[in-house]
Amino acid sequence: MSMREAYSTSVASDSGDAATSPRRMATSIRNLKKEYVLKSETVRALRGVSFDVPEGDYVAIMGPSGSGKSTLLNMLGCLDKPTAGSLMLGDDDISKLSDDQLAEIRSERIGFVFQSYNLIQQLSVVENIQVPLYYQGRLGADERARAVMLAERVGLADRLDHRPSQLSGGQQQRVAIARSLINDPFFILADEPTGNLDSITTEEILGIFDEFNNEGRTIIMVTHEDELADRSKRIIRLKDGMLALDEVVPEERRDATRAAQHRAVEELLARTT
Ligand SMILES: Nc1ncnc2c1ncn2[C@@H]1O[C@H](COP(=O)(O)OP(=O)(O)O)[C@@H](O)[C@H]1O
Ligand SMILES: [Mg+2]
Repeated sequence: MSMREAYSTSVASDSGDAATSPRRMATSIRNLKKEYVLKSETVRALRGVSFDVPEGDYVAIMGPSGSGKSTLLNMLGCLDKPTAGSLMLGDDDISKLSDDQLAEIRSERIGFVFQSYNLIQQLSVVENIQVPLYYQGRLGADERARAVMLAERVGLADRLDHRPSQLSGGQQQRVAIARSLINDPFFILADEPTGNLDSITTEEILGIFDEFNNEGRTIIMVTHEDELADRSKRIIRLKDGMLALDEVVPEERRDATRAAQHRAVEELLARTT
């Protein structure tokens, strides 16, 4: 049994009636290749990667430096096109889209969360959450109400008119998570989302991810940290541009990791207050 078959089987057995209602895919990737042609050589950054991400999944992408994580992330985020193979988003194969179509799907259907938050300093919390809608000219009262609702969901109800510089790092990342969901994306694409945050704030951000994932939101996260990966549902490990591991994180391991991290945060708080 291939790794992919093993994964599909484990997903199917999770969801009871999988035989009658197969889960929809947030994305399907087949034999994805990316080559960078330089003067002196051709770098094969991805050498044929295949996997599916069902809606509601929570995937951690790991692997050593140079293994192809950023290259894969760029294609999942419609920032770049593959050299060969396919990456399906809904009914679209991104390898067949024009650059304009790619930009459109990127702004309308992908929710980005970066290590550095990438907020616009001149805009308020609510305005930052609405940014992805500006590109579509959707700025009505409904959209603002939705942005306020998302700000409340991430715990910023009392910070709606603050500027990013008036917020802590953790609060800024909450804004970024709310912004990522304003468009009802295929998935949240998070690149080292807690890389700049201390362990207490990291725990808060992971808690927000857990909540949205429990509601069915799909999360794809690049991380170097085992403690983060063990909070996800599935770990995909790249090596030399190939898929080296595609592993379901057992429920017990997720629970134990979450409990240990909660304990560590509580001990830290007890010592510092
Ligand atoms: N724009 C680029 N031009 C040339 N080579 C690149 C480019 N981007 C990445 N690479 C090469 O592709 C390989 C994979 O890189 P990357 O996807 O950044 O890996 P990771 O994010 O896992 O560190 C590396 O050998 C890297 O040097
Ligand atoms: Mg990288």
